[in-house]
Amino acid sequence: MALRLIQGGRASDGLPGLIVEGAAEIATLAGGMRTGSRMDDVSTIEAPGGDHTHDAAPAVASWEGRILAAGPRDELLRAVEGSGYPIARFTRFDAAGGTITPGLIDPHTHLLFAGSRENELVMRQRGADYLEILKAGGGILSTVTATRAASEEELAEHGRRWLAEMLSHGTTTIEAKSGYGLDLPTELRLLEVAHRLGKEGPVEILPTWLGAHAVAPEYRARPDGTEAYVRHLIEEQLPGVVAQGRARFADVFCERGVFSPEQARRVLEAAARLGLGPRLHADELAPSGGAELAAEIGAHSADHLAAPSQAGIDALAAAAHDDRPVVAVLLPATTWFLMHDDMAPARTFIDRGVPVALATDFNPGTSPTPSLPLVMTVACLALKLTPSEALSAVTINAAAALGLAEEVGSIESGRQADLAIWGVPTHRQIPYWPAADLVRAVVKRGRVVVERAQP
Ligand code: NIG
Ligand code: FE
Repeated sequence: MALRLIQGGRASDGLPGLIVEGAAEIATLAGGMRTGSRMDDVSTIEAPGGDHTHDAAPAVASWEGRILAAGPRDELLRAVEGSGYPIARFTRFDAAGGTITPGLIDPHTHLLFAGSRENELVMRQRGADYLEILKAGGGILSTVTATRAASEEELAEHGRRWLAEMLSHGTTTIEAKSGYGLDLPTELRLLEVAHRLGKEGPVEILPTWLGAHAVAPEYRARPDGTEAYVRHLIEEQLPGVVAQGRARFADVFCERGVFSPEQARRVLEAAARLGLGPRLHADELAPSGGAELAAEIGAHSADHLAAPSQAGIDALAAAAHDDRPVVAVLLPATTWFLMHDDMAPARTFIDRGVPVALATDFNPGTSPTPSLPLVMTVACLALKLTPSEALSAVTINAAAALGLAEEVGSIESGRQADLAIWGVPTHRQIPYWPAADLVRAVVKRGRVVVERAQP
């Protein structure tokens, strides 16, 4: 695969401006987070007669990492020059008849861990249950053992490898959870590495503290183990995490047999009081009160939702009218990889006005894929999203789930210049060619950071 990761970015020519031109289509996603029938409208600009060599074929211009404008190239160049920007100071990049979208945003990943769990795939094929494997000390707990033993440098190396994979599939911003330490030193190490890798770039990272991912091994033999661990989370881990200052959000695996809604509420309310925005692993495996809790506390997102109760669906639909609705972050690659039949009721959410986003859930147990385009395919096939809805869900709606919709997720004047350039003439083909390497180039903050030679 002729893919180059370009160190420092191609505006290496030292030029502050970038013009990406010669596209057949730009899906701008302009106009903010989408709900209902608007999820199916990604605001495209198309080349006249499909001719990307036409003077009026769509182009995007950026200056010092921010979008100036997108539109027909002839008009765009006139507007850029008319505003006093020197055209000679722009790198020109040819999209060669492809599609330009905002850089994709992955609002739910477990980027950092050590080891792998391919053995569990076979165990599940033979009928083992995900939570039974965890109760027997495997699953998340086996990754915890491996992660505690890994150094900061080992975790960083692992993180870089998988970030490069994400980037090569068009992802420019991610959320990354801790949760494989379950003790303060390892949780802090994971959050520190997430922060450090985000600073290294080019992929931007928002760290989330997920100390409440499972009850830590030290507490499991005790009869009051879960309660004691919840107290440890609130009284010891949380203050340490806040003092460190790396985490932006807090998350809890709220699931029957793991943490109850009442325990999740205590952790998330304590975290919110100290400035960490709440998110939830909600109703992944069974109706567990997670969707209801997310709506009640005004979480940024309720994630998974493969098995919400009717009351939970109603609560999210009611919250859809709030100033900042709870975003339903659906993770269909997880359901697929777990070979479960329950699928998140995505069409119901859309019909009832709940904003829907998609994420990989990248992790070693339930979803080892770094690819958002693959997740889009699964969302189209299993959740019956249209390709346009799936694109809204991995761009502007994913940005909204992270509180970033004014910054990334759309191609609009003033937004960060994060772009994915695809070797297909319309965004509708992105989920249509599963597992193909469709990314031709990626731009982060106005710099070309990935460039793939044409096959
Ligand atoms: O989102 N279910 C909780 N957390 C992850 C899986 C983590 C693991 O199995 O290592 C999830 O599916
Ligand atoms: Fe997860």
